[in-house]
Amino acid sequence: MKAIVITQPGGPEVLQPREVEMPYPTGSEVLIRVFAAGVNRPDVFQRKGNYPPPPGAPQDIPGLEVAGTIEEVGPDVTAWKPGDAVCALLTGGGYAEYVIAQAGHCLPVPESFDRGDRFVKAASLPETVFTVWHNVFQRGRLQAGERFLVHGGSSGIGITAIQLAKVFGAQVFTTAGSDEKCSACDALGADISLNYKTADFEEQLRELGADVILDMVGGDYIPKNLRLLREEGRLVFINTMNGSKVKGPDEVDFGLVMRKRLTITGSTLRNRDNAFKTALTSEIRTQVWPVLESRQFQTVIAQTFPLDEAAKAHALMESSDHIGKIILLNEWS
Ligand SMILES: NC(=O)c1ccc[n+]([C@@H]2O[C@H](COP(=O)([O-])OP(=O)(O)OC[C@H]3O[C@@H](n4cnc5c(N)ncnc54)[C@H](OP(=O)(O)O)[C@@H]3O)[C@@H](O)[C@H]2O)c1
Repeated sequence: MKAIVITQPGGPEVLQPREVEMPYPTGSEVLIRVFAAGVNRPDVFQRKGNYPPPPGAPQDIPGLEVAGTIEEVGPDVTAWKPGDAVCALLTGGGYAEYVIAQAGHCLPVPESFDRGDRFVKAASLPETVFTVWHNVFQRGRLQAGERFLVHGGSSGIGITAIQLAKVFGAQVFTTAGSDEKCSACDALGADISLNYKTADFEEQLRELGADVILDMVGGDYIPKNLRLLREEGRLVFINTMNGSKVKGPDEVDFGLVMRKRLTITGSTLRNRDNAFKTALTSEIRTQVWPVLESRQFQTVIAQTFPLDEAAKAHALMESSDHIGKIILLNEWS
């Protein structure tokens, strides 16, 4: 089969199509014929050599999520059969004609998606829905009526977090890097969207505060986040793209953690074990899939590219000009 391979650590041009050995499913695995594969920022970090795949994951084919049809099932699989339309969370390997997934990490393509682009839409879901559900609702324990702030509101993670937080009854604030991105966040239901290039989010939100903050930026946002949190507030890190250390004149005051009884937490999804991801898949099927089926959540596709043009897709992601998800299409088979 054909796949996009990271030929060496480097820029987008190191992503090259190659003939690779076709995988086959064993045990509780399924083989998926890929129609569409989501691009995520962690793929960019992996391509640069900064985010090594966990042991057992495909080492040089990126791709953390796909949608397609089940081609073949392993001997222990009863939940799926060949021909079923699914989307799946992967540990890697999604930029390919076929990929192996755990049966327990697959979800049905929502019936509510139009037949024409249902695989594109479904491929945009697993990585961000799983990350947001675990970090905002399980770790962050976001409740209806609470105030939720997500940084990077126009990212794949951001568009998912804004919408799910709204559906589950929170008041939603977000930051993004342009007025156009803020308008897109407003259109998805954000109550307040702030362009961090022209406004200081801490100043703007000081009166309101936040009960839960989902942060992927870190750096100088860290002391600001701690000051913004309300009593019993929760700060959840999923990345620290501006650095995991606070540099500069602003100081981190951990006295706030005691005085406001704050919780600071965070996680990375990819290295979690199969049992954890299977349990998360079940909870998402019960809690989030009905939201998709009732059309209370819209997928936001910034652009699609054929798999052959994966390098262009990565260049777009690194430009940060996109709003929402970038998707690769298998036009090889
Ligand atoms: N922990 C986990 O399990 C997990 C899982 C998936 C993703 N993530 C993380 O979640 C974040 C979003 O992922 P995604 O796939 O949704 O990404 P994405 O669509 O590429 O969005 C990232 C956005 O973040 C903003 N940003 C702010 N500071 C930035 C910086 N220093 N460098 C680059 N971008 C910056 C940019 O928009 P602005 O114009 O607003 O600056 C950019 O468009 C990434 O950091 C990713 O690593 C974590």
